[in-house]
Amino acid sequence: MYPYLKQIMCLLLLLNLVSNVFSIKCWNCRSNNDPKCADPFDNSTVPITDCVQEKGLQHLPGIRPSMCRKIRQKVNGEWRYFRDCAYLGEVGIQGDERFCLMRTGTYNIFIEYCTCNSKDGCNSSTFISPFPLLMSASLICIYFHLFTSL
Ligand SMILES: *[C@@H]1O[C@H](CO)[C@@H](O)[C@H](O)[C@H]1NC(C)=O
Repeated sequence: MYPYLKQIMCLLLLLNLVSNVFSIKCWNCRSNNDPKCADPFDNSTVPITDCVQEKGLQHLPGIRPSMCRKIRQKVNGEWRYFRDCAYLGEVGIQGDERFCLMRTGTYNIFIEYCTCNSKDGCNSSTFISPFPLLMSASLICIYFHLFTSL
């Protein structure tokens, strides 16, 4: 069905490696520790992290974070926000970082991923949502990352 999937995956990984040359800083917080992490975002107490300083991921050796991410999650009617550096995935929807990927799961769970790389601290901004789920290699990578590291 997708004859070039492997090649595209490799290209994404390669682009990710190449883009590591350019470092980015991202807001790093979770709303269960700091309510200011939620929307509307208040940067006054939230730390900004240089993604170059990140330890890296055990299951993705050699991959460096090159993007910022905001995750908005609704579990049993309660919103949680996560902001951090992102390792894999594409920016926004087809490169337009104003848009977020959305996913509705079982058990009343809703997750939205907003990935950006336009500037330092870009994961502070208000993103446009909702947007239908796109099936892509990057999304699979995001899931993989989320369910193995959170
Ligand atoms: C924090 O937010 C204020 C108000 O929105 C903004 O002016 C400032 O540039 C932000 N700080 C950083 C480091 O982005």
